[in-house]
Amino acid sequence: MDTSKNLFPHDHYVNAERRKELINQKPLLIWLSGLSGSGKSTIANTLEKKLFENGYLSYLLDGDNIRIGLNKDLGFSDNDRKENIRRISEVSRLMLDAGLIVITAFISPFEEERELAKSLVKEENYFLVHVNCSVEKCEERDVKGLYKKARAGEIKNFTGIDSPYEVPDNPNLIVDTEKESVNESVNKIFTAITNKIK
Ligand code: ADX
Repeated sequence: MDTSKNLFPHDHYVNAERRKELINQKPLLIWLSGLSGSGKSTIANTLEKKLFENGYLSYLLDGDNIRIGLNKDLGFSDNDRKENIRRISEVSRLMLDAGLIVITAFISPFEEERELAKSLVKEENYFLVHVNCSVEKCEERDVKGLYKKARAGEIKNFTGIDSPYEVPDNPNLIVDTEKESVNESVNKIFTAITNKIK
């Protein structure tokens, strides 16, 4: 049912501009994309700690956590992944409006859904980081034992095995977790975003 024609968005007195002045930071969505096991969550956590220690207010949305709550009705078909990312993008948009620096850690394997996220929050608020790591290395790490299950056919549509990962065409930054330490990757991101959040 399309109810959109009967909806009337309101403008609020306390808006993004006023919040920005109150908390003295510019909101930004730092979108981490990469294979399972590439290091997204670790980098996201360490980056958030660094932001916190530098006085920035942030919120981290992480694949596994969101899929246990908000998106627990979604699986890993292409359509469910798209819906997963659409909801995350909408939640991110609200959090940006609330003035926060948002970090997301989702595989987000499709260019189309990453483009949707960018258009929803507007390009100037979006910073795409490709957390690069080869499938071979992720599989060797296999922190959660999921690659083994995917190879055994116990998990279907596993990204990098029997579901595609589209390497981002034009990320704002690439970190390479096969070559860099966690701190090196985090420092690269922090340096690149500093002038956007001040
Ligand atoms: S996304 O593709 O829709 O962006 P998301 O980041 O939310 O994926 O979730 C990925 C996490 O779900 C992985 O880190 C892994 O722990 C778990 N997972 C379970 N099944 C799959 C699967 N088929 N493919 C990828 N990840 C899976």
